[in-house]
Amino acid sequence: MTDFLWGGASAANQVEGAYLTDDRGLSNIDLLPHGEDRLAIASGQKPYQAAAADAFYPSHEAVDFYHHYKEDVALMAEIGLNAYRFSIAWSRIYPTGLESEPNEAGLKFYDNLLDELLAHGIEPIVTICHFDVPKGLMDAYGSWRSREMIAQYEKYAVTLFERFKSKVKYWISFNEINMILHKPFTGAGLTIADDENRMQVIYQAAHYEMVASALITKRLHAIDPQAKLGAMLAAGGYYPYSANPEDVRQAQRANQENNFFLDIQGRGEYPRWTEHYFDSEGIVLDRSEADFNLLKEYPCDFISFSYYASRASKADTTGVDTNTGNAAGGVVNPYLKRSEWGWMIDPLGLRIVMNSIWDRYQKPLMLVENGLGAKDLVTVDGKIHDDYRIAYLQAHLDVIEETMVEDGIPLLGYTMWSVIDLVSSSSGQMSKRYGFIYVDRDDAGQGSMRRLKKDSFHWFKAYLAEKKSKAE
Ligand code: BG6
Repeated sequence: MTDFLWGGASAANQVEGAYLTDDRGLSNIDLLPHGEDRLAIASGQKPYQAAAADAFYPSHEAVDFYHHYKEDVALMAEIGLNAYRFSIAWSRIYPTGLESEPNEAGLKFYDNLLDELLAHGIEPIVTICHFDVPKGLMDAYGSWRSREMIAQYEKYAVTLFERFKSKVKYWISFNEINMILHKPFTGAGLTIADDENRMQVIYQAAHYEMVASALITKRLHAIDPQAKLGAMLAAGGYYPYSANPEDVRQAQRANQENNFFLDIQGRGEYPRWTEHYFDSEGIVLDRSEADFNLLKEYPCDFISFSYYASRASKADTTGVDTNTGNAAGGVVNPYLKRSEWGWMIDPLGLRIVMNSIWDRYQKPLMLVENGLGAKDLVTVDGKIHDDYRIAYLQAHLDVIEETMVEDGIPLLGYTMWSVIDLVSSSSGQMSKRYGFIYVDRDDAGQGSMRRLKKDSFHWFKAYLAEKKSKAE
């Protein structure tokens, strides 16, 4: 495991803040408030314009990584990380998305961040689009409803490739591309009216995103033949709730829906079940021969994925707890413990996921998100005893090692979510904390932004030091 990437992960809209600094434009997540409207807006059911007038928008300041990045990168290096997965904010580079020239101040920020990382021996893994659409593109085109987005995204991605090609080897086109099924506003800036065919809008947007991803894979290979482009899936298999074939079929169907994205991005072809499904749902997609050729010729180079929890499927959910706390739905699995937010904790499920993805696609894998959202308490002497997070991570790391050694699955790296506390994507809370590094900031946006080292910080530092010494 010597050249293994051991990192942390984050997303621009969840850490950077400084949402209008240096000419950054507004993006979809800047319009997603904390509080009771959040879920309805995130799932595309309520227009963001209908949010309460006094709503609080946590992404606007987040944890101010924009101004603290040097301190934060130094802390990552102190842990011993040799990788950091972060995303670039599209609207820092093209403030409305529509400009013909990029915003130099935005590019400069990422130049500085990349230089800081490389100076500390930290390999960047860059997500081009992590739940991120400039508002200007939402206004002009209705976001990914329109084919125009492909060219806008290509322009943005090529700007990044040209500028950062000497500094970045690993690129990810869209974070958790399958999130569009559950939260189309979060995933792709889509709001869908009640009288529209919801799945038509979603699958059309997904098609354009996947064509855009194939197109930039082509462009990346020409600009920087050494660089790799990854697809990214919110993974976590659906187990049948029981051996009842109805439950088994239900789980199979849910897994097919999830695999839809990797089938196309990994194998370059639409899965067959979609033909009947699209017909039966009245879904008619704009898909050209040129699209199909692009998808076939430029599949992703590697498959990255997030893994937090597994899911369970049941055909008849009468009397069963469906409150899984997770956008991916399903029912509560009685065999598993759950996090404070109801997510099922299932380390062995990670072995199952890694095997299923590998068996299906035979492409190198990268686990780019895994971690535990929990409430952390700061003691009077400024310590955070997050033994629950250590237990979660240790259990998952043990499973990764077994899977690599015993099943022979190639994993390029592991970037823990989220290295530093940040704004939760689903809830907008700061109190759902994931980091090794604590940030003094609360759900209402109060706090000094001071950084503190949790017990997990020291634990992971020791874990990596041991790995390194064994490898020497
Ligand atoms: C993934 C996202 O869905 O899970 C992240 O890629 C997100 O952006 C993470 O933060 C954890 O989810 P949450 O909702 O607890 O922040």
